[in-house]
Amino acid sequence: MLDFAIETARAAGQLLRDRYHEHHVIRSKSSPVDLVTEADVASEQLIVGRIRQQFPDHAILTEEGSGQANGSAYTWLIDPLDGTTNYAHGYPVWAVVMALAQADTVLLGVTYDPLRDELFATQRGAGAFLNDRRLRVSTAARLGESLVATGFPYDRATNPQNNLGPFNHVMPRVRGVRRGGAAALDMAYVAAGRLDGYWEFRLNPWDWAAGSLLVTEAGGTVTDVAGASWRPGLSSLVATNGLLHAELLGAIDQGLQAKSNQ
Ligand code: IPD
Ligand code: CA
Ligand code: CA
Repeated sequence: MLDFAIETARAAGQLLRDRYHEHHVIRSKSSPVDLVTEADVASEQLIVGRIRQQFPDHAILTEEGSGQANGSAYTWLIDPLDGTTNYAHGYPVWAVVMALAQADTVLLGVTYDPLRDELFATQRGAGAFLNDRRLRVSTAARLGESLVATGFPYDRATNPQNNLGPFNHVMPRVRGVRRGGAAALDMAYVAAGRLDGYWEFRLNPWDWAAGSLLVTEAGGTVTDVAGASWRPGLSSLVATNGLLHAELLGAIDQGLQAKSNQ
């Protein structure tokens, strides 16, 4: 099933890369800044079609809604294009995400960046890989020597829980905060040791499914902002190399407290 996910993610990535420089039909969804293009839909159709052909009994949960719940113990979690805003603007940070879960347990995940031909793949208990290279999280032990990433939710203009409080408290303590715009790549980069930590609020299952397993299989730690072990349904996610996890949680918490006192 991992081989199938890798082949399918590569095919969807090829489709997205072929269309990247064409004109895109852009619509908004939950808010004016939550976008979908014709390429998201085409990528999803390709992936869902292949899953239906290969694993007709499996359930499918996709961002653009063409999946189906059918009572199967196995569910494919699909983000046909993570980083849609980047894709639509020609900013070269986006990926295809596929993961397979059995009930609440992610069994395997793939995050494919077609522009760099970087394929991040993981299987529970078998490690995390970038192409053929085994991944290991970084060794930075303090926030002061770290590079971290975050993201801001699509309802940030109207919801006071917009991550600006945590951002303000983390930013002065680290070497840099990146906002790459593709959550799946942020987590893959933590697994690869390119980032030391990442946090975000209100992710969807297709955003975190592959990335959370990549990070733990590369030796990192994934919790929510309160430090609870990661599980589906939590409303925030913090992924680090483990060494600076507590320090990052503390800085995020200070930001949340300051925000709620405003
Ligand atoms: C979004 C990106 C972004 C993150 C958002 C996600 P999409 O996914 O991963 O970096 O901040 O929370 O929804 O909409 O481009 O698939
Ligand atoms: Ca996404
Ligand atoms: Ca998406």
